[in-house]
Amino acid sequence: MQRITAGLRKLVAPPDLAIDLGTANTRLYALGHGMIADEPSLIRFQPITGEVEAVGNRAAWLANVDPYSPTVSPLHAGVVADIEAASSLLKPFLKRAQRFGLFKPRVLACAPTDACEEERDALIEAAMRAGASEVYVAPEPLAAAIGAGLDVASHYAQMIVDIGDGVTDIAVVRSGNLILTSAVRTACSDLRNAVAQMVSFRHGVLLFPQEADRLMQLIGAQFDYDQEELLVTSGTDLLSGEPLDLCVSSHDLNEAIEPILDNIVEAIHSTVRRLPEETSCEVIENGICLTGGGAQLQGLPERLAAATSLEVRVADNPMMAVINGARQMLDVGIATDIWQN
Ligand SMILES: Nc1ncnc2c1ncn2[C@@H]1O[C@H](COP(=O)(O)OP(=O)(O)OP(=O)(O)O)[C@@H](O)[C@H]1O
Ligand SMILES: [Mg+2]
Repeated sequence: MQRITAGLRKLVAPPDLAIDLGTANTRLYALGHGMIADEPSLIRFQPITGEVEAVGNRAAWLANVDPYSPTVSPLHAGVVADIEAASSLLKPFLKRAQRFGLFKPRVLACAPTDACEEERDALIEAAMRAGASEVYVAPEPLAAAIGAGLDVASHYAQMIVDIGDGVTDIAVVRSGNLILTSAVRTACSDLRNAVAQMVSFRHGVLLFPQEADRLMQLIGAQFDYDQEELLVTSGTDLLSGEPLDLCVSSHDLNEAIEPILDNIVEAIHSTVRRLPEETSCEVIENGICLTGGGAQLQGLPERLAAATSLEVRVADNPMMAVINGARQMLDVGIATDIWQN
């Protein structure tokens, strides 16, 4: 009988949700039920009526089939740029959570550390319109540090860098608090745009969707001017409108993404330089932990290590670190209202 009552209580109780609403990917975890979404942050509209046609995986699939209909991300550089579109993106995912309970879910959503009050309010508003009953906001690098397995309660300072699609968020965590933060709104989407722009200027070709991402991942952060490679790609000829295959030089790709990589590396390096002496000794001991999709960029950990003279390691499953950390925050209760909404 007790078991049945507990089961019933679980069924009708409002599920607590953790949300990592990223520029490229949206991830949701429902307490007691597990991951309920890990899909692209994409929303697609009907070209004529302007109504929402699809979100997430389906929107991405449709964008590949017909790349010329409007498919957008409601986020820009890690923050909500269009509240209505963000709430339309979240709504079907929150509905999945509501199936488990009768009441609207409470939500813990993550935001970059440099998000201003309006940007955090936009995130809260989007989640409320999507069906949340309450929304708490937590800083992304704190969640990333927990998700990466760092002992955030330790009295020893540790550095975490989350390189996502729109924002690179850098933080030093000690005794459960972020003691230093710094963010730049430069990340993988800028690398991808630089690749696409170079190909468009130099070859007069608009790369097919996914090709800029593929080339960016192939070229990575390695820099080798001795060996030039030619990489095959495909796109639409800007003059004739015809699809075509072409070869691009690895040197041209390196040159295109170099200033952006420099920006990211310099942002991290300057945060290391700003550390007070005693903290910097602790960070030197622990090194830097990388999370986010950008952490997987080939050669980036080595490049960062060379620039900062620190040990740099990539977290296990770096793209899931933020949601895994936010999930663990739910486990201990939503007491993490760092920004006091
Ligand atoms: N193997 C890889 N090598 C390089 N980059 C990768 C790799 N896999 C994914 N990425 C990049 O990671 C990015 C997505 O990472 P992530 O899911 O952490 O971003 P996000 O959380 O949506 O963005 P943000 O936190 O900045 O709002 C994409 O831009 C993708 O190009
Ligand atoms: Mg992210």
